Amino acid sequence: MARAHEAGALHSPGSSATAIVPSWLTPPADVNELLPQLWSQTVERGDAGGLRVGGVDVAELAATYGTPLYVVDELDFRSRAVAWRDAFADAFADLCGGADVYYASKAFTATGVTRWIAQDGLHLDTSSAGELELGLRGGVLPGRIALHGNNKSRGEIAAALAAGVGRIVLDSLQEVDLVADVAAELGVVAPVMLRITVGVEAHTHSYIATAHEDQKFGLSLTSGQAMATVARVLARPELHLLGLHSHIGSQIFDMGGFEVSARRLLGLHRTIEREHGVELAEVDLGGGYGIAYTSEHQPLPPAEIAGRLAEIVARECLVQGIAVPRVSVEPGRAIAGPAGFTLYEVGVTKDVALDGGATRRYVSVDGGMSDNIRTALYDADYSATVASRASQAPGVLSRVVGKHCESGDVVVKDEFLPGDTGAGDLLAVPGTGAYCRSMASNYNQLPRPAVVSVRDGSAKVLVRRETPTDLLALDAG
Ligand code: LLP
Repeated sequence: MARAHEAGALHSPGSSATAIVPSWLTPPADVNELLPQLWSQTVERGDAGGLRVGGVDVAELAATYGTPLYVVDELDFRSRAVAWRDAFADAFADLCGGADVYYASKAFTATGVTRWIAQDGLHLDTSSAGELELGLRGGVLPGRIALHGNNKSRGEIAAALAAGVGRIVLDSLQEVDLVADVAAELGVVAPVMLRITVGVEAHTHSYIATAHEDQKFGLSLTSGQAMATVARVLARPELHLLGLHSHIGSQIFDMGGFEVSARRLLGLHRTIEREHGVELAEVDLGGGYGIAYTSEHQPLPPAEIAGRLAEIVARECLVQGIAVPRVSVEPGRAIAGPAGFTLYEVGVTKDVALDGGATRRYVSVDGGMSDNIRTALYDADYSATVASRASQAPGVLSRVVGKHCESGDVVVKDEFLPGDTGAGDLLAVPGTGAYCRSMASNYNQLPRPAVVSVRDGSAKVLVRRETPTDLLALDAG
């Protein structure tokens, strides 16, 4: 029988309750503390204890825009984008005249975001006609846009070529003729790259690892698929082969995977140049750089990542005896993720007694797996803090859950929240700027939350909240 623990909900490990506290999580000395690596740069606690971001009180944001609400710190997003841009320009300046940073718009996109990308001089990675359209709307120069996808439609390829995108990344042998035929119809030459499966086992969740053999992406390096596809591309005058591409997965901290990937990619690059007497101008090393979702994650700064990749590329090109191609990378999460957080309102709280005497507190919020599917899908960890006030209550091990009809509807698996957290409090979950709004659903007919950006004391809507009318508008009756 579920029964609340006599001593109240767990407030410190040290009893049998320790068993349910993950090893990386320690009770905070101060439940109001904000760990800098988890929060965007303008987030702070105001004098009254509530969170402020971009000079705006989150209570004001909640009152104006409602909850759940995705909040993007514009200064943080843009300074991260610029830091990536500059780090790669600098690290590769002497090697190949700089390197290009393609923001992976699947992480989060809106016209307001692609406008920042255009203004700040980054490139853009898109994976569908919709992402491409938002890139163009925001004013990103078509020549700075890449189109990806393992199953692009003819319409998507035509839209990309008509817009004049800088590269289409081919993912299969079949796609070679499809893209060449569409290019022929439009009377253009399509700049293409080939996505190569380099056989790296990235140290990340299996659903977001993409360079091992047994998955849907890319052309296998070992099976001869890659070389067969190269020959096919070179036989089609409507295609111009820019070079090779590899993306090994997401939320990766270990640079070893990127090193092996670059080595294998540049080895193939050399083989193609020698066997076919062509020069490949580019190499794209993909994205996947990890961010901090909890205190256990320590991401590397972009300048360090760029420096290490530059060393790897320089060494491999020397070993292979090839000219250093122009390098590009495609970070998504590392730019958008830490810039955003989700603001929820707390409703029901419940203490559940577990076998062995521990108690887990369930804190329900007004969203859930429809606005953040990552916990359920990837077993992802998140953190949370009470955002509307500071609290003097001790931390209680809590699980933040949503309002959906599933027991797996968990937003934050484990966090020490103040013991007095209750209905009406605002709760903020950091690191949700990437892959939350972009993967949101209408499960249980919940309208998807708005996204607002804040800067210098004011807020702007990037994506408005869906309404029940929006949802009913799709119902055919
Ligand atoms: N380039 C390519 C070709 C990609 O497929 C991806 C992500 C990226 C770049 C950007 O990866 P990032 O730097 O953001 O890790 N939805 C998952 C991640 C899957 C991403 C798929 N591709 C998540 O929520 O973690």
